[in-house]
Amino acid sequence: MPVKLEMDAGLYERLCPGIRIRPLDGTRDWVRCADLQKEIWGYPDSAEVVPGSFLAITPHIGGLLLGAYAGRNRLVGFAWAVPAFHEGRRTYHSHMLGILPAFRRRNIGWALKMVQRDLALARGIHEIHWTFDPLQSGNARFNLCRLGASVRAYVRDFYGRSDSPLHSAIPTDRFIATWSLTAARVVRYRAQMLAEAPPTGRLPDRWDPVLAAESRRRADRPQRIHLGNEYLFEVPENLEMLKKENLRAARRWQTLLRLACIDFFAKGYRIDRFVEALINGKTRYYYLFRAPTGKEGKVAWLSKCKFRAEPGTS
Ligand SMILES: CC(C)(COP(=O)(O)OP(=O)(O)OC[C@H]1O[C@@H](n2cnc3c(N)ncnc32)[C@H](O)[C@@H]1OP(=O)(O)O)[C@@H](O)C(=O)NCCC(=O)NCCS
Repeated sequence: MPVKLEMDAGLYERLCPGIRIRPLDGTRDWVRCADLQKEIWGYPDSAEVVPGSFLAITPHIGGLLLGAYAGRNRLVGFAWAVPAFHEGRRTYHSHMLGILPAFRRRNIGWALKMVQRDLALARGIHEIHWTFDPLQSGNARFNLCRLGASVRAYVRDFYGRSDSPLHSAIPTDRFIATWSLTAARVVRYRAQMLAEAPPTGRLPDRWDPVLAAESRRRADRPQRIHLGNEYLFEVPENLEMLKKENLRAARRWQTLLRLACIDFFAKGYRIDRFVEALINGKTRYYYLFRAPTGKEGKVAWLSKCKFRAEPGTS
């Protein structure tokens, strides 16, 4: 029997006026959702699109397929999550979240994720995972600064070759985001958004002198900076532009971030902040890795490979 989703999206719809959030319902919606995937990810053919016939299983398996509707019932975005297991816990894996380009930056993605969170919690699920491209600064900002997700895992070439223009030309390396639904930061960010005082991604002041010294380095290379128990790794402001202008640089950037992540995650570091700094009139973006603390951290430190105090910029 399909499970009906009991939800109240009004709280979040307030922040994206003119939009209604409700579960996708019936063949027409599922087919439209398949078309939407083509529009959002720009797939040239259907091979990578999840078909309506597969989306249809969602209510039967306890999944969450939510749509954002504008005007007279026009589907403009959606979020799809399926039940999963993670380290023995019941979780959701959120496989897709997409908003039509003309409707982006109006809090619709955020509202869909908030409803997804409420529904997961109502079912006793406290954690949702998904993947995202570590080099897409917009997605990083959305996931870390707005939702409060964190990252502890990096997977090389997760999806293999993709024909989406958003994924093309470099391997599909991915972060695995962990969204701990009742974590203090997640609860705080949600409250800040609802109070219309969104959390900022400002870098703590202690980094200012280090960044000032670093600013002399070449602008086309990612900055990698170490301060005490924290580590910054720069992300390109606009990956699509970088891929168009200098594909070699984009590939190099990916390789350097991959190496840093494999090294740091193995030592128990995690990323829960995505920060920005104004350097010589240009805004630059960084992941902030934090050293492990407590028991878990000590085990990671003892059992994993050697620590290089300051991996230099190559
Ligand atoms: C990622 C995506 C789902 C975000 O949806 P959205 O409705 O535009 O996001 P919201 O309006 O809720 O964004 C909330 C905040 O996230 C951040 N953000 C979202 N997209 C961003 C972008 N492209 N660049 C920088 N920041 C971005 C911003 O801080 C934004 O708040 P602001 O506009 O007040 O600065 C949408 O851009 C999309 O569909 N992208 C293509 C598909 C995709 O990459 N999906 C994977 C998602 S992990």
